Amino acid sequence: MKKPIEAPRVSIAPMIDVTDKHFRYFMRLITKKALLYTEMLTCEGIFHGDSHRLLDFNEIEHPVALQIAASSTEQIKRAMPIINKWNYDEINLNAGCPSDRVSGNLMGACLMAYPDLVRDMIKTIKEFTDKPVTLKHRIGIEGRNILPASFKRTLLDTYEDMDNFISIVDEARPDSYIIHARIAILEGLSPKENREIPPLRYEEVYRLKDEHPELNIEINGGFKNLEAMKVQMALLDGVMIGRLAKDNPFLLRGIDALYEGGSFNYISRREIIEEYIPYIESLEASRENSYMAIKHMDGLFTGVRGSKKWKQIINTSASQGIKASELLRLSLRELPKDILDER
Ligand SMILES: Cc1cc2nc3c(=O)[nH]c(=O)nc-3n(C[C@H](O)[C@H](O)[C@H](O)COP(=O)(O)O)c2cc1C
Repeated sequence: MKKPIEAPRVSIAPMIDVTDKHFRYFMRLITKKALLYTEMLTCEGIFHGDSHRLLDFNEIEHPVALQIAASSTEQIKRAMPIINKWNYDEINLNAGCPSDRVSGNLMGACLMAYPDLVRDMIKTIKEFTDKPVTLKHRIGIEGRNILPASFKRTLLDTYEDMDNFISIVDEARPDSYIIHARIAILEGLSPKENREIPPLRYEEVYRLKDEHPELNIEINGGFKNLEAMKVQMALLDGVMIGRLAKDNPFLLRGIDALYEGGSFNYISRREIIEEYIPYIESLEASRENSYMAIKHMDGLFTGVRGSKKWKQIINTSASQGIKASELLRLSLRELPKDILDER
């Protein structure tokens, strides 16, 4: 049977305040194949908020997955008819975000203590869409006040706990599990610390795939170069990268070559900037926040000459009265030629 999603694959992780439509447009200039995620959107936010502002995206972004957060099937039932007006390629449910705000509301990582609810939410999403429905979660959680009172333990962090979680959720047959290979500590750590302090435990993700080869398993957490990504693609059904995409996007020109039959994208920094300018001009024409959109490019010169100058230019305040598109043109004049034209 053909899998509903391409495997193995690379995806660019959902990141709040990062992976908005501008960042995704920028990413698409660098990789044509990687799946791009939105930021996490709560179903309540979608139901009550400005759905165009939240959900609009550009055709160039396909394939693009919408990540949602919810704490009940009712919330999903309210949001899905709205979501279905947009043509997202995949819907992903968040069961991995450690933020107090999210976990305190029975969303994100704390859902790992409620596998029945996660199963029901996945089932509910599937009732509304034929697109792949996937789940992003951690290998476990720790948190005294967050876990249900019936739990005797404050930790759900063994391999067996994760296996049990998945065995229940899998009754709803999500199309893929994307596993951030560290636990989330739900009290006492900030979201940032929760991406750094709990150790990475990749072996448990490999073991899961080994014991359940029928499941589509993608791994996330700490991958910093193409070689490491290639290794994961040989072992599993996919690899998701987060911070690397923001910190060193130029490196991601190699992603498409990780796919069978795919090739390295030899686009230069100059060409990336030149191709982004018309997009920025279209934002300027429609009075969208174009300054925000160019800030997303700030890792483009990471590790090379000109990085400081680049950051200075693109972080120029709007109050200086220079258009964002002009700032990009200025960068093409001011930055070292050899770095701009490197392939
Ligand atoms: C700024 C930022 C925002 C994030 N927002 C989300 C989010 O909205 N939803 C989510 O599932 N994970 C979120 N994450 C976690 C990433 O998706 C990813 O799991 C994590 O960064 C580990 O991958 P990495 O080591 O490749 O960065 C966020 C991470 C960062 C750095």
